[in-house]
Amino acid sequence: MRELSLHILDVVQNSLAAGASRIELTIDQDCAADQLTIIVRDNGRGMDRAQLEMVTDPFFTTRTTRRVGLGIPLLKAAAERCNGRLVIESAPGQGTTLQAVFQDSHIDRAPLGNLASTLLTIILGDTCDLHYVHRSDGSEFSFDTAEIRAALGDIPLTHPAARRWLREFLVEGERGVG
Ligand SMILES: Nc1ncnc2c1ncn2[C@@H]1O[C@H](COP(=O)(O)OP(=O)(O)OP(=O)(O)O)[C@@H](O)[C@H]1O
Ligand SMILES: [Mg+2]
Repeated sequence: MRELSLHILDVVQNSLAAGASRIELTIDQDCAADQLTIIVRDNGRGMDRAQLEMVTDPFFTTRTTRRVGLGIPLLKAAAERCNGRLVIESAPGQGTTLQAVFQDSHIDRAPLGNLASTLLTIILGDTCDLHYVHRSDGSEFSFDTAEIRAALGDIPLTHPAARRWLREFLVEGERGVG
């Protein structure tokens, strides 16, 4: 079974491909409501109505190396299999917001997986800023790479010492939620 962190990586890669300079990723685990919600909001180029309608169709893609796009259809199928849904809002020039909802306790609900390593891949792989919030019944881990970059000053996030610190920060932060 696929980890949800891999779906998250897919969706974030769509945002990066759409030229986003800022991505907001929210993971909200609400045990009382028995819901797990993943929201990815970007300021990329967005999609028009026709593109948006086609996006959940596995044969629609703007990629040129391969004819089918599977990222979104697979996430939609995963959410729907768990009594959930996938909602995408987008407008050209205004960015895209994607919301995936799962029944948290559903037997088919894949584990979140290794979020710390997924986040590290996202953060070190691009100069795009990431605002992250992970909530799970009262506990919360959040950060903004714009603030981290500002605190580091001239030192890039990819500097070995910064990278080591970042890995620790993400592992510790994720350990504290859920
Ligand atoms: N955040 C986004 N902003 C703008 N366009 C998007 C966004 N997400 C998806 N799209 C559009 O929807 C298409 C389908 O996305 P999807 O992730 O399903 O497939 P893909 O990215 O083309 O291929 P794959 O994910 O299989 O590598 C993309 O090619 C892109 O045109
Ligand atoms: Mg994709």
